[in-house]
Amino acid sequence: MKKEQVVNCQFSVWYPLFKKHTIKSVILPLPQNVIDYLLDDGTLVVSGSELTSQSSRTNNSDSEEEEDIQWSDDETTTTVTAPEFPEFNSKVQEAINALGGRVFPKLNWSAPRDANWIALNSSLQCQSLSDIFLLFKSSDFITHDLTQPFIHCSDDSPDPVINYELVLRKWSELIPGGEYRCFVKENKLIGISQRDYTQHYQHISKQEASISSSIQEFFRDHIQYQFPDEDFVLDVYRDSRGRVWLIDLNPFGEVTDSLLFTWEELTSGNSLTDNQTGEDTALQECPAFRYTTSEVTVQPSPCLSYRIPRDFLDLSTGEDAYKLIDFLKLKKGQQEEESDEEDAGPQS
Ligand SMILES: Nc1ncnc2c1ncn2[C@@H]1O[C@H](COP(=O)(O)OP(=O)(O)O)[C@@H](O)[C@H]1O
Ligand SMILES: [Mg+2]
Repeated sequence: MKKEQVVNCQFSVWYPLFKKHTIKSVILPLPQNVIDYLLDDGTLVVSGSELTSQSSRTNNSDSEEEEDIQWSDDETTTTVTAPEFPEFNSKVQEAINALGGRVFPKLNWSAPRDANWIALNSSLQCQSLSDIFLLFKSSDFITHDLTQPFIHCSDDSPDPVINYELVLRKWSELIPGGEYRCFVKENKLIGISQRDYTQHYQHISKQEASISSSIQEFFRDHIQYQFPDEDFVLDVYRDSRGRVWLIDLNPFGEVTDSLLFTWEELTSGNSLTDNQTGEDTALQECPAFRYTTSEVTVQPSPCLSYRIPRDFLDLSTGEDAYKLIDFLKLKKGQQEEESDEEDAGPQS
C-alpha cells in the first residue's frame, strides 16, 4: 500500500466527489491546540461539572480527620476542568445544529469505534464537543489517525503533510445487517463482504442475488473510474427500500479489515470464491459475495479487546462517585507512604 492511497482516502478528498450518494456531513479544520489536547494523556476529561479536591495539607499532625478527603470550595482547593476552545466549540455546535442536533464524528479516516463503550449512551452519537472529546480521547483508532496514518505503507518517501479535520456526519440509524464492504482492484469490484460478520442475517442469504446486483449497479454507475485510485475498499449501506449509499472509502491494504476475505486472497490475483456455493466467480464476471451463514454461531465483537474493567469505566465517567472517592483515598494513601519514605532518608 502506498502513502498516496492513504492520502486519497481522507474524508475531505472523497466527500466532494460522492456527496450525492452519501450521508450529509460537515468538515471542520482541527486547530493545533485541539490536536495537542487530544494527544495529551494527562488531561482529565471533566465536562460541565467541576471536580474539586484538597490540594495541600495544612499541617502534619496525624489526626483521624485527615484520612477523609474533604470536598470543599475554599481557597485551598484546585479545580480540574477540561480546557475550553470557545471559538472551535461554537463552530462545532453550529455544524451539529445544522445537521439536526445529533452527529457521528470522525477524523480524516477513522471513527472512534473502539470507544463507544465509554459514552453514557454506549453509542457514537454526539450532541456536543465534549461528547466528541470523550470518545476521541478514549480511542486508539483516533490516536492512529493522529500519530501513524502511514504505518502500513511500503514506500519510503517522506510522509505527506496532513491537514487534520473533524468530520461531523448527520446521525443515521444504520441497521448493521444492511452494511457491506466492497473490495475494488484495478477498478473492478472483486469481492463483497457482509460488514457485521459476527451475526447471521437471514435476509442476506434470502436476497443474496438482489443485494449483490444492486451493489454492483451502484458501483458501476457512481463510483467506478471516479475515484483517484484504481484499488480501494468502499463501504456501502443498502436501506430498507433497496437504495445503496456510500458510507466510507478505505485504502486497499492491511490497514483495512478484510472481514470475510483475507488480504492474501484479495491480493493474490487468483479468482475469489463465494462462501455459499464455493463457486469460482471468475467466469461469471461478478464479484464474490460472502456473508455469515447460520452454521457460524456467536463470535466475539471485534472491538471487545479495547474495553477496560467496569471499575475504571465508572471512574472515568464519574457514574459511581464512591468509587472515585475510594480511588482518590487510595492515591492519597500512596502519596503519603512515598513522602514518609522520602522524609526518612536513605537507610544506612
Ligand atoms: N452518520 C452515521 N450515523 C450513525 N452511524 C454511522 C454513521 N456513519 C457510520 N456509522 C456507523 O459507524 C460504522 C463505522 O463508520 P465508518 O465511517 O466506516 O468509520 P471507520 O472508517 O472508522 O470504520 C459504520 O459501519 C456504521 O455502522
Ligand atoms: Mg473506514
